[in-house]
Amino acid sequence: MTFVIKVNGSGHNVDVDGDTPLLWVLRDVLGMTGTKFGCGMALCGACTVHINGEPTRSCITPIDSIGKSEVTTIEAIGKTPAGAKIQRAWLDREVVQCGYCQSGQIMSATALLASKPHPTDADIDNAMAGNICRCGTYVRIREAIKQAASS
Ligand code: FES
Ligand code: FES
Repeated sequence: MTFVIKVNGSGHNVDVDGDTPLLWVLRDVLGMTGTKFGCGMALCGACTVHINGEPTRSCITPIDSIGKSEVTTIEAIGKTPAGAKIQRAWLDREVVQCGYCQSGQIMSATALLASKPHPTDADIDNAMAGNICRCGTYVRIREAIKQAASS
């Protein structure tokens, strides 16, 4: 079945089964490999994208649920004001270690900053709790979010 989805401001026709996860479509059909597959079960956050600005686990989001919603991925998040601040702070604080979780971390952090420009520690903990980092970059992630909020 053909679906028309809007990703990073552009419309795309994709011919897949309706229950195909958005993550599969992004990576395997559209070639946008910045969004990562971690667990496939909504447990790790590696696959986080924004749907209408809300951080969403693309591994469990079927393509037939997208409709006319706006999907934003790591490839375009730097074009948003909050995304640009977060990416700048990530570089300044040298947050990344292996990098595998980091596109998901940045998507969650950007959604937080866009909705709460001056998040508290509790806000940060709450927003980032679903994003797992096996390299343990959590302290730098928190510092970078605080830097982005003050920039
Ligand atoms: S791959 Fe989607 S939450 Fe882990
Ligand atoms: S930087 Fe390696 S898993 Fe997070």
